[in-house]
Amino acid sequence: MSSPSISEICQFIKDDLDAVEKKLREKTASHYDFVDLAVQHVIEGGGKRLRPVLLVLSAKACGYDGEDAHTLAVVVELIHVASLVHDDVLDEAPIRRKRETLHSKWGNKVAVLVGDYLHARVLSMLVARHADDPAMSILSDATQAMCEGEVIHAYKNGDFNISQDDYLKIVGLKTGRLITASCMIGAILGTKDEKIIQALREYGEAVGAAFQIIDDLLDFVADQEKFGKQSFSDLREGKLTFPMIYTREVCTAEERTTLEQVFNADTEPDSAIEWIEALLRRYRTQAHCLGAAQVYADRAKSALAALPDTPAGRALQQLADYVVSRDW
Ligand code: FPP
Ligand code: MG
Repeated sequence: MSSPSISEICQFIKDDLDAVEKKLREKTASHYDFVDLAVQHVIEGGGKRLRPVLLVLSAKACGYDGEDAHTLAVVVELIHVASLVHDDVLDEAPIRRKRETLHSKWGNKVAVLVGDYLHARVLSMLVARHADDPAMSILSDATQAMCEGEVIHAYKNGDFNISQDDYLKIVGLKTGRLITASCMIGAILGTKDEKIIQALREYGEAVGAAFQIIDDLLDFVADQEKFGKQSFSDLREGKLTFPMIYTREVCTAEERTTLEQVFNADTEPDSAIEWIEALLRRYRTQAHCLGAAQVYADRAKSALAALPDTPAGRALQQLADYVVSRDW
């Protein structure tokens, strides 16, 4: 049986997610028409809202059911959206969440500044809460880690020999840290029990790794329309990701030489895409990535053993599998 979709898993928190959606709109509204237009272009682009979902579920799993979880869910989503707006500038990506990216529509200057604007909204929302709030330090650390991850990734861009270890370190920073922060902040709303908070930290780290491995895989195998992003974009950008690192390691020396030429070519890799697809089939790269992501999903589920049995805890279990089985 296939895993349930994210909306099926989250049906019982629909009211919370609607409240988050409303707050996202309210908290990012600008009095200036064009700022508002550009900001809402990315906010209304939607997405899975994985980080808000993780935060709300983690809070509920730890016994907290109040509105502060909605505020913090908005905060983590805004950090995420801001980072994607900047990431799309760095990656020169034309489409995100089935929409034209902000920089493609209005240029890099607008995109960089809208990212900064969203980040400023995050700071003001956090300051409006209490200054000694642990969410403040968790989120400033996470944002710093995301920037560090992206800097290292940009620095390593074009490195055909990047190791799996380096790759997983980058992923842990750029993707894992905000997902982990979302889980921990939710936990802290409901409990002071360090064992539970650490369990949700472990859960978030493992879900983050599984999420990015599947994100990398979908770049090669997803239906572009459903995925909402351009296919083969990592290859176009000269970014060696999990599927390619694995394939580079297991293929023959001759194939590796051709792969490196495709990877280093200045031209778009369109003509080589069929060859790459055949290579991925030959080495069962998809199955390998699904298996590797599932190991992380299983690790995430094991970490949840420390939590009491609640509907939210069970939804977190299902989400770990969803992250692996998703097709967008
Ligand atoms: C997507 O990676 C990007 C991230 C997970 C993080 C990006 C972080 C920054 C730009 C630094 C932080 C900036 C702010 C404003 C907080 P990807 O390119 O692998 O995934 P994709 O296929 O979705 O683009
Ligand atoms: Mg990108």
